[in-house]
Amino acid sequence: MKLRLDKFLADMGYGTRSGIKKEIAKGSVAVNGTVLKRPETKIDTEQDTVCFKGETAAYARYEYFMLNKPAGVVCATSDRQEKTVVDLIQDKKRDDLFPVGRLDKDTEGLLLVTNNGELAHQLLSPKKHVDKVYFARVRGTVTDEDIKMFSEGLDIGDEKKTLPAKLRIISSGEISETEITIQEGRFHQIKRMFAAVGKEVIYLKRLSMGTLTLDESLAPGEYRRLTEEEVEGLC
Ligand code: URA
Repeated sequence: MKLRLDKFLADMGYGTRSGIKKEIAKGSVAVNGTVLKRPETKIDTEQDTVCFKGETAAYARYEYFMLNKPAGVVCATSDRQEKTVVDLIQDKKRDDLFPVGRLDKDTEGLLLVTNNGELAHQLLSPKKHVDKVYFARVRGTVTDEDIKMFSEGLDIGDEKKTLPAKLRIISSGEISETEITIQEGRFHQIKRMFAAVGKEVIYLKRLSMGTLTLDESLAPGEYRRLTEEEVEGLC
C-alpha cells in the first residue's frame, strides 16, 4: 500500500498532520536512511523503512483488540459525556478504531475493537450467519418450551421474527442461567427475546463471536491485541 509520508505518521499516532509536517520540515524523519523534507513523499508501507526521531515507525494498516467490556461503559467511538470502549484502549496507534457491534451499557464481555470495516461487516451481517454466544442470567424459570420458542424464532416487536436461536439451560429456577447463540445483533435482542417469553435478563455477557472467544484471563475493562492466529481465524 502506498500513502503520503505525513499520513503514514499520523495514522501511526505520531501526532497531527500539521505537527508532523513541522517535524518533517525540521528533518526529524528519514526514509530508508535519508532525511526527507517533503510530507507528500509516497511511502510504500511494505518496502520502505520510516524513522521518526530515530525510531523506526512500522505501519499497521489494521489493529485488532479483544476487550472484556465492563458494565457502565458505552459501546461507541466517542461520546461527549460518557467513557467509551475505544477510550479504554490506551496503547492504540490508530485513531480510527471502532467497536464491532453494539453491546448495551450494562452488558459485559467480548468486544472486538478494530479499524477493519470489511471484517466488521462479515461478522455483523445476519446473512453471514456468524454465531454470537452469550451467557445470560434471567429472572424466571427457563423451560424446554422456551428452548423450542427460541429455536422457532420469536416475535420481539420488530417487522420480522428473530432468526432461529439456540438456547441452552445451565440451571433453571427462580433465577436461571443460560447460554444463547444468535446470528443477528438487533437492538437489545437477547433482553427482548427473554421478555417475549416472560423473563427478565439481569446479567448479560458475550462469550464469543465466530471463531473469537473471550480470553477469560482478561478482567472486565482489560484488553489485549489479537494473536495472529485469532486474526487469521476471523479474516
Ligand atoms: N442483546 C442484548 O439485549 N444486549 C446486548 O448488549 C447484546 C445482545
